[in-house]
Amino acid sequence: MVETNLILLGPPGAGKGTQAERLQADFALAHISTGDMLRAQVAQGTELGREAQKYMNAGELVPDEVILGMIGQRIGEQDAREGFLLDGFPRNTSQADALAATLADSGRRLTGVLLIDVPDEVLVRRLAGRRVCVKSGHVYHVEFDPPKREDVCDQDGSRLIQRDDDREETIRRRLEVYARQTAPLIDYYEGAGLLRRFDGQRNPNEVHDHIRATVATLRLEDEL
Ligand code: AP5
Repeated sequence: MVETNLILLGPPGAGKGTQAERLQADFALAHISTGDMLRAQVAQGTELGREAQKYMNAGELVPDEVILGMIGQRIGEQDAREGFLLDGFPRNTSQADALAATLADSGRRLTGVLLIDVPDEVLVRRLAGRRVCVKSGHVYHVEFDPPKREDVCDQDGSRLIQRDDDREETIRRRLEVYARQTAPLIDYYEGAGLLRRFDGQRNPNEVHDHIRATVATLRLEDEL
């Protein structure tokens, strides 16, 4: 079978992580989230984590060399050789160029780029109300997707926390950084004929249905 290599693109709070969890189960893809990888480094107290945390808490991008080192290694790992779903990477055109070069070097290519579109005013509300399981990383929302018991994960009973960068002033900065540095990737991938757009204002099940149908078609086209 041809490998399926996807990018989930969209502003902070668009629902990339929410959809990635579902798509990973549908298509057995390696879910590679640079944000989750960085937060794991922060939690472990590594030097990389301490360095990255300064940028993350300020809502800025972590320097490319840190990210590219992590990603280059990860997409070469066995599970990702069978197909991957990138979430939060690439975030600027130099990261996109580096990804293209890494894939070309190993004779691989992207299958599609899935853009989840959501306006800024909705994003602020989503991020401010987001809660995350400390153990599994499963994502909730106090209003749109609340857990059965307040601040307790339905899946494993662990504590739910608010991310350090989900404070309102940091959220605003993250949205500015997205508009300036990441949004140009929309034209970049549209020009390459890879972009597919999804209305992220629909409920998570509807967004998932649309993306899943598109990915299934992309896979079929690849196999023909
Ligand atoms: P990262 O972790 O990648 O964060 P992000 O891109 O800002 O995205 P989020 O995780 O905040 O949002 P999401 O789209 O996954 O939304 P979610 O599904 O959780 O990056 C964090 C930081 O790390 C960056 O700021 C940067 O510093 C650094 N970094 C990471 N990658 C980097 C890179 N490549 N280069 C440089 N630096 C990098 O949903 C949000 C909320 O909305 C949840 O509560 C959810 O329940 C709810 N929700 C989801 N879908 C819906 C829906 N359809 N309707 C209603 N509510 C919904």
